Amino acid sequence: MPGLGSNADDGAAREPVGGGAPAALVLRELTSHADLHEVERIQREVWGLDDLEVVPNSQLRAALHAGGQLGGAFLQGALVGFSYGFLASPHGRLMVGPGLHSHMVAVRPRARGLGVGQALKWQQRSWCLERGIEWMTWTFDPLQARNANLNLRHLGALGVDYLVDFYGPMGGPLGGGRSDRLLALWLLAGQRSTAIVEGGRPPEPPVGARSVVPARQRLAAWAVRAASSDGDAEPVVELSGEPLARTAETGARVMVSAPPGAGGVAAPERARRWQDAFVRTVVPLLEAGYAAVDFAAGAYVLEPVDDRCEAGPTNL
Ligand SMILES: CC(C)(COP(=O)(O)OP(=O)(O)OC[C@H]1O[C@@H](n2cnc3c(N)ncnc32)[C@H](O)[C@@H]1OP(=O)(O)O)[C@@H](O)C(=O)NCCC(=O)NCCS
Repeated sequence: MPGLGSNADDGAAREPVGGGAPAALVLRELTSHADLHEVERIQREVWGLDDLEVVPNSQLRAALHAGGQLGGAFLQGALVGFSYGFLASPHGRLMVGPGLHSHMVAVRPRARGLGVGQALKWQQRSWCLERGIEWMTWTFDPLQARNANLNLRHLGALGVDYLVDFYGPMGGPLGGGRSDRLLALWLLAGQRSTAIVEGGRPPEPPVGARSVVPARQRLAAWAVRAASSDGDAEPVVELSGEPLARTAETGARVMVSAPPGAGGVAAPERARRWQDAFVRTVVPLLEAGYAAVDFAAGAYVLEPVDDRCEAGPTNL
């Protein structure tokens, strides 16, 4: 099995790593027991997980043995982040052939904002393409604007499915509310990620060729707006039910505001109101063939995407 690359001078260095990724960043596959135990420690440190929820060394080892992926990022010899994925079959729209489901990506707090997280994601992409795997999925909390920005804008992934209470009740700091998740789909050989690799820049605003809807019909409509611009903002549903269905028929671009602020909503009751607003708006749009194609001005940008292309989604 080809490795992930043992230092920053190999293939990984050609990937866009967030512009500011430290030159000293070393990316390599994690295989030793010591590495795997360190991954357990990072999970506790980053998510505050209790012992039942940490993916243990033994599970990581088994998944790796059976063809899974575990990449590490090192600064000055210390592991500062990792990515972990297991092999996947198509489980939704636009997925053709074998894929990778990325279950976790985490960067230690002291190394955040340096481009390490993005480097780990691009490294996962290379790992997949080397093995003929052309799509990757992962889930993220749609109330967290920072993650939406990373996934949709910096990486060029799409939001293709809304999963209500995906993990059920969770313990630790992640617990206390409903664990709704957006399913990100990254088409690794598609136009969006390739353009970012080649140009080192985020995808263009969603007015280009990736929609099947004629430009004249691409009217913007807001499905959800935030009532204020602070962290206490409430969601205001502007479009749902029949009007939303009519809008979807026109193929109009629809904006869905995320809660203001980067890090999501702390109060469970308020988080629930945002989640309910998303269920009333995002879910019917996804069912009508839309996907979240970008994150701009604090909002998800949803457009129809072409699932019907027999050769696979070439324009995404
Ligand atoms: C998400 C995470 C992996 C990002 O790693 P990172 O090394 O800080 O990210 P990078 O420096 O490569 O990229 C920065 C981008 O990531 C996004 N981001 C998400 N969470 C972030 C955080 N806590 N701090 C900084 N950036 C974050 C932002 O969009 C930022 O882009 P911007 O500068 O344009 O706002 C890291 O913050 C983390 O481990 N978070 C906790 C675990 C988690 O949420 N995992 C991902 C689930 S999808």
